[in-house]
Amino acid sequence: MNTAMPSLQHPRSLERCITGRPTRDGAGVRLTRVLTSDLQQRLDPFLMLDQFGSDDPRDYGAGFPDHPHRGFETVTYMIAGRMRHKDSSGGEGLLQNGGLQWMTAGRGVIHSEMPEQEDGRMEGFQLWLNLPGRDKMCAPSYQDIQSVDIPQVSPVPGVLARVLAGQFLGTTGAVHRPASTHPTQVLYLDLHFGQDAVLDVPLPASHNAFVYTYRGHAQVGLSEAPVELHQMGILANDGDGVRLKATADSKVLLIAGQPLCEPIAQYGPFVMNTTQELQQAVFDFQTGRLA
Ligand code: FE2
Repeated sequence: MNTAMPSLQHPRSLERCITGRPTRDGAGVRLTRVLTSDLQQRLDPFLMLDQFGSDDPRDYGAGFPDHPHRGFETVTYMIAGRMRHKDSSGGEGLLQNGGLQWMTAGRGVIHSEMPEQEDGRMEGFQLWLNLPGRDKMCAPSYQDIQSVDIPQVSPVPGVLARVLAGQFLGTTGAVHRPASTHPTQVLYLDLHFGQDAVLDVPLPASHNAFVYTYRGHAQVGLSEAPVELHQMGILANDGDGVRLKATADSKVLLIAGQPLCEPIAQYGPFVMNTTQELQQAVFDFQTGRLA
């Protein structure tokens, strides 16, 4: 077994495992909603995690035609496939194998996310990250990051870490923003484990964190029961980091962030602090003033 570096004093325990709920969204795209609205307080600042993965174009071909967002950020990570993004601020980009798109909806965007393939595999994730109240009406922006531009490190033998966001053992992620402007301080890692590899990841105790297993299975802390394939494991806030072990070749997302501890008011694609702000968002959208 490989040695975990650096070693943690008190690895976090596994609070519970969640199996995602099959659903459809957009114009009928089949997906699994892993982080559902009942977990928004527990996993603050994260609002949603969708996983999609299919070889059948009937599951993804209709895509996500024009739709609005306000008050948060969408983070899309493509494992396989090609998806074209276009938005009301004139932004356009192609999301493809291993690439990342980070979109700050802020005061409002209307965008589409449409497959640019008629067959083959489409697989990836969309994470919704909340914005603090003071930034919910900021100017919208987005960045497309190609796979080759995502830093990769191998901190211990048998583990490859793709650092999508944050800082990991001295490696700065593809997206890294100062705490003074972005208090959620998101860490987003795509971790690839060889059989019997072990990895320790330090995490501030206050950060809410979870893992999602998309290949194989992984053990958290001292727990013998693994986070099975296509399960999310919520990490208890009871240690100085997470210890992950894989007993087979596995791939795991690790996502962590500082909670905002603000009221969450959601109506579909709008996430604000109050009902009044939601009503304003709906009014702005209906009257063409959202974006
Ligand atoms: Fe969207």
